Amino acid sequence: MAAKPLRIVLLGPPGAGKGTQAQKLVSHYKVPQLSTGDILRAERKAGTDIGKQAQAAMDSGKLVPDDLILKLVERELAKGITGYILDGFPRTIPQAEALDKMLSSRTMPLEKAIELTADYDEITRRATGRRSCPNATCGAMYHVDSNPPKKANVCDKCQTPLVQRVDDKAETVVKRLEEYEAKTAPLRPFYESSGRLARVNGVGAIDDIFNRITAAIGHS
Ligand code: AP5
Repeated sequence: MAAKPLRIVLLGPPGAGKGTQAQKLVSHYKVPQLSTGDILRAERKAGTDIGKQAQAAMDSGKLVPDDLILKLVERELAKGITGYILDGFPRTIPQAEALDKMLSSRTMPLEKAIELTADYDEITRRATGRRSCPNATCGAMYHVDSNPPKKANVCDKCQTPLVQRVDDKAETVVKRLEEYEAKTAPLRPFYESSGRLARVNGVGAIDDIFNRITAAIGHS
């Protein structure tokens, strides 16, 4: 019998390493990553109405309204996936409740919410030092200190000049952390009360954190 596809949510504050770990989980478990942040950035790049509506909130470090996000997630789930790694979604209690409904109607319920933890000094250092490749077919991620490219500010893989996300400026990271505490941290008791929460230490070597996550997931 084929193994059950992985169905998880990655929670954690901005810069906790959700995107980094999601990429590793995708290649290990062979299920797609669904990152609402990446989808929104792609919508903005393509100049769509959704992208335009999300722009102001994103650039100021606020959350995008729930109705817009839920429309995007519905659209992605309708693509016929059976397993998933949800990265950066849900981020509010209404989003989490809507997600449970969407998934139960598609009979692919969430197994676990993995929360990556790290203190706010570390998170701020990670977010403000992040540089990424804007080439849509590459998207490689770097950090100026912990994972620098071989040539300063140039992608190792495709030689495209790297960029810093507008919302990774120090003052915007502070706003994102406030939003996280106010609106996303309540997801911890939400998932804990239904026995689906696993908290994983998100500090240390990237491979060590990956091993902690796979242990918390507990299936191959
Ligand atoms: P989104 O893109 O989801 O941003 P985020 O949640 O703030 O998360 P990040 O992408 O900043 O961090 P990450 O945890 O993925 O860390 P990463 O692996 O990159 O959302 C952006 C915006 O979109 C939101 O502010 C909001 O406006 C909107 N939005 C998105 N989803 C929404 C939703 N559901 N509802 C409403 N609004 C929504 O790592 C960070 C850096 O650290 C990298 O440089 C990396 O190389 C480095 N790093 C990673 N791991 C380690 C390690 N172990 N040690 C050292 N460095 C490390």
